[in-house]
Amino acid sequence: EAAEHSGFETFMLKEIHEQPRILRALLEKHVSSEGQVLLPDGLSSDYFRKLNRIMIVSCGTAYHAGMYGKLLMENLTGIAVETDLASEFRYRDPKIDPGTLVIAVSQSGETADTLASIRMAKDWGCRIFSICNVEGSSVVRESDAVFLTECGPEIGVASTKAYTAQQMAFALLTLSIASARGNLSPAELKVYLDDLRDVPDAVHYVIRQKELIQKIGEKHHDGPSSLYLGRRFNYPTALEGALKNKEISYQHAEGYAAGEMKHGPIALINESLPVVCICTQTADEVYEKMLSNIKEVEARNGRIIAVASEGDSELAKLSDDVIYVPAVRDEFSPMVNVAALQLLAYYAARARGTDIDKPRNLAKSVTVE
Ligand code: G6P
Repeated sequence: EAAEHSGFETFMLKEIHEQPRILRALLEKHVSSEGQVLLPDGLSSDYFRKLNRIMIVSCGTAYHAGMYGKLLMENLTGIAVETDLASEFRYRDPKIDPGTLVIAVSQSGETADTLASIRMAKDWGCRIFSICNVEGSSVVRESDAVFLTECGPEIGVASTKAYTAQQMAFALLTLSIASARGNLSPAELKVYLDDLRDVPDAVHYVIRQKELIQKIGEKHHDGPSSLYLGRRFNYPTALEGALKNKEISYQHAEGYAAGEMKHGPIALINESLPVVCICTQTADEVYEKMLSNIKEVEARNGRIIAVASEGDSELAKLSDDVIYVPAVRDEFSPMVNVAALQLLAYYAARARGTDIDKPRNLAKSVTVE
């Protein structure tokens, strides 16, 4: 089996390392030599110009990608975007009509709740766009248009490369819709694309720091629980970091919107609780607010592990440990930051001696309700 890992000790570690190459390939494929982001076949630019509502449905890690997609799209396209867990969506009364585009996100394309949601939405007359990794899967076959994430098979049960590829798909889709609708001028689009092209190298830079991240993971892996805080574009990153940790290390982990800390999780903070704070900055207006949350954790002797932008010495003073990541545009920072959290969970799990590629009780694809 080691041969199948291509020299890596597990599939998960191999898949984490594949991310820069996958992200680069998606950029190359979907951006034309003239600097246009190519819209997926199946839905016209005229359709996107008239669209006024998007509903994103997905499960697990793909749901976190959907949360990220919502934040990006509502920020840049002017379209009202909602996201929901497919298992909730299918049992509520979401007032969807044919004017709503439903976006399904799924690595496998076979998740029962996501498929059921698509079928319901089709009955209501909606068009379906899917972001999926498996060509020929049920989700792909039942969609009007598809963005294939083209990561190759993901074997590790805990999703890594499929997640960052889903995020890249949302970034590209958002830029293509925003320019089709005139929300971004050609000059603005060029700036966004130049910034997006920084992401693969930044992810690679994070992966190169795995020895440092390993030490941090080993240092904090032993407690019963950990807290992950993030805000705005990095709120989904906090949820995904916590999910990775609990999936493979079996340490209870909770992801929280940092602004909600005072409404509950602050009660948990003591000297044994690792608090992973995603606090990268370029122009992010929530950076100062994250800093003040971190100060509150520090005042209660929590163990702060910060994910920070290179050169941010302020955070080093407040934190027990810092993982520095390259500063990229705030909108795109979740793809970079999550790589650090994937590795942090990975090395915590390794220290705890779990079966990383096949964690107990979990399935790669949940095909029954
Ligand atoms: C399972 C997997 C997760 C995945 C989720 C959704 O829980 O273990 O890694 O995120 O299903 O799967 P999908 O294939 O629809 O993305």
